[in-house]
Amino acid sequence: MSRPVLIRFILIASLLLPASLCMAFFWPETTHERKTNWVGAPGPTQPIAFYHHVHVNELHIPCAYCHWTAANSRYANYPPVEVCWGCHKNISVTHPQIARVRQYYIDKKPIPWVRVNQQPGYVHFVHSSHIGAGIACATCHGNVGSMYAVYQPIEMNMGWCISCHRQYQKKFHPYQASVDCYTCHY
Ligand code: HEC
Ligand code: HEC
Ligand code: HEC
Ligand code: HEC
Ligand code: HEC
Repeated sequence: MSRPVLIRFILIASLLLPASLCMAFFWPETTHERKTNWVGAPGPTQPIAFYHHVHVNELHIPCAYCHWTAANSRYANYPPVEVCWGCHKNISVTHPQIARVRQYYIDKKPIPWVRVNQQPGYVHFVHSSHIGAGIACATCHGNVGSMYAVYQPIEMNMGWCISCHRQYQKKFHPYQASVDCYTCHY
């Protein structure tokens, strides 16, 4: 570099450095709000204090007992209140949280669970393809079985999706995942 060019470069760089530091500092905040995701504990307060820790780690109820559509369709269902009531008509009936479960059951109203994982509308995601390829729930959702209020231990951003898809692009791999834009956006 010639001298004047070098000086100009240093000048511009010294102006850009504080600006990029500011960006790095504020950027993650704004992306969180836009995605309305729950990265990091604690998760949102739910209408019923339902704890995976009690039902999965202590009682060993399988995920599919409550989330049975994950294996066969795009979305994973929330368990209808009838599933809760199947056990709780006999268990912890006097517990105040269970009294509230009973009220939803009697009123035939679904429990309005607050959604934790939600991609923006322009992202296409299908549970069944991933479960079918043998990927465990925990790979994406972390150890939900040990959580109280569910949160996201992993931020499911585009770079994260793509870096896994790339691992499935080796020749002769039984499952091939594409990184073409239209796989996830259309
Ligand atoms: C490859 C990553 C991945 C795996 C594996 C995975 N999920 Fe998900 N899950 C997601 C993403 C991404 C969303 C948000 C989907 C959206 O907004 O369209 C989500 C959303 C959910 C939801 C909220 C409802 C919905 O479908 O949007 C539930 C419940 C859920 N997952 C349960 C499970 C269970 C149970 C398993 C295992 C049987 C599982 N997930 C496996 C990535 C995954
Ligand atoms: C397969 C049976 C089963 C299902 C299904 C089930 N639970 Fe439970 N649940 C239990 C048991 C057993 C306990 C522990 C009771 C204890 O510790 O005395 C429990 C504990 C609880 C507690 C804490 C109450 C306490 O006594 O500490 C809440 C709240 C609760 N469950 C809500 C739910 C909700 C909401 C659903 C539906 C999404 C649900 N449960 C589905 C069996 C079940
Ligand atoms: C007894 C029923 C039950 C079992 C068993 C269960 N879940 Fe759930 N799950 C629920 C309920 C109810 C909610 C909604 C309330 C909440 O977020 O805690 C939920 C929420 C979730 C969410 C967050 C959904 C969202 O809004 O993004 C994920 C992820 C999830 N479960 C994964 C799992 C995994 C993985 C397992 C097995 C390790 C599992 N669940 C076992 C009942 C259950
Ligand atoms: C841990 C690895 C892994 C992660 C993380 C992952 N995927 Fe995948 N994905 C796969 C594999 C493997 C396939 C191919 C499955 C097959 O061949 O049937 C796939 C397939 C797909 C497909 C094609 C589904 C179909 O049936 O056409 C879509 C869409 C997709 N993934 C979206 C996403 C998005 C969006 C994310 C991030 C939120 C994501 N994936 C994260 C491994 C992953
Ligand atoms: C494997 C799935 C996957 C593939 C392939 C993919 N994306 Fe994405 N993309 C996502 C997810 C998930 C998000 C939302 C989360 C985020 O913002 O990181 C996203 C977000 C975006 C956004 C919005 C970013 C923002 O900050 O608002 C743009 C633009 C985008 N993708 C463009 C592309 C283009 C162009 C390609 C092809 C080169 C591509 N994507 C391929 C999953 C994917």
